[in-house]
Amino acid sequence: MSYETLLFTQDEGVAILTFNRPDKMNALNPQMRSELAEVLDQVSRNAEIRVLLLTGQGRAFVAGADISALLELDPLSGKRFAQKAQEVLFKLEGLEIPVIAGVNGFALGGGMEIAMACDIIYAAEEARFGQPEINLGIMPFVGGTQRLARLVGQGLAKELCLTGRLIDATEAKALGLVARVFPGERLREECLEVARSLAAKGPVALRAIKQVINRGFEMDLRSGCALEIDAFAVCLASPDAREGAAAFLEKRRPNFSRTLP
Ligand code: COA
Repeated sequence: MSYETLLFTQDEGVAILTFNRPDKMNALNPQMRSELAEVLDQVSRNAEIRVLLLTGQGRAFVAGADISALLELDPLSGKRFAQKAQEVLFKLEGLEIPVIAGVNGFALGGGMEIAMACDIIYAAEEARFGQPEINLGIMPFVGGTQRLARLVGQGLAKELCLTGRLIDATEAKALGLVARVFPGERLREECLEVARSLAAKGPVALRAIKQVINRGFEMDLRSGCALEIDAFAVCLASPDAREGAAAFLEKRRPNFSRTLP
């Protein structure tokens, strides 16, 4: 399937979604939002896709919502606009497979919010992150205030959202937002290498880890740990658990299932 604002390719178990409006810094307009939702539906239906990588064409990952679309919003249409955008990010966050954001350049506003809805953020040295909505007289509206506070703590989230200042990849890594930083020309290959290695791991355990960390964050410690016990038991029901232990003892590489049951 082809899209106007996105590129979507699949190589074995790894799918790559590239935001593709480089002349507009991949600003997220309503068409890109609905194409993103369509791709995510396609990914969730395709059992062969085991890892998804998101990245951007040109100098930006995504430089936020398309500001020209914001001009036309009144409170009611704005509410609907924000709800639709948030639904897409819940869809992204809720994918059962691991999702990597390969942040190649500017990840601002909605772009930073997309990255934060992914499971792992890798960044190019030239990447820049920020929630600059305050400079437009508005505020983050695609989960930025919430996910950023959960990822880096309330104090830093307030500082970034209130000032709207941009941070570079080194600072984003120091804050714990970014897992690793690579030279720009190596970012894609490094992301793909991790994606391929995740694609070779046991899909039941991958799904369980993602779900337990995501859901556990919304719970008290005891409830999160109880969820962990149940998810661990589910892992033991999958043939991957026996294959993993047997492969270790036989000093060979494990051969895990290719798809979720
Ligand atoms: N919405 C609409 N258009 C955008 C955009 C956005 N969020 N971000 C960039 N663009 C467009 C610019 O208008 C420009 O279009 P033009 O060539 O037709 O004039 C083009 O992308 C290139 O951007 P430009 O500003 O010229 O590049 P730059 O290198 O000087 O700056 C940014 C790059 C990303 C720092 C700057 O574009 C920016 O601050 N963008 C807005 C970020 C933002 O506030 N996001 C939150 C929105 S809620």
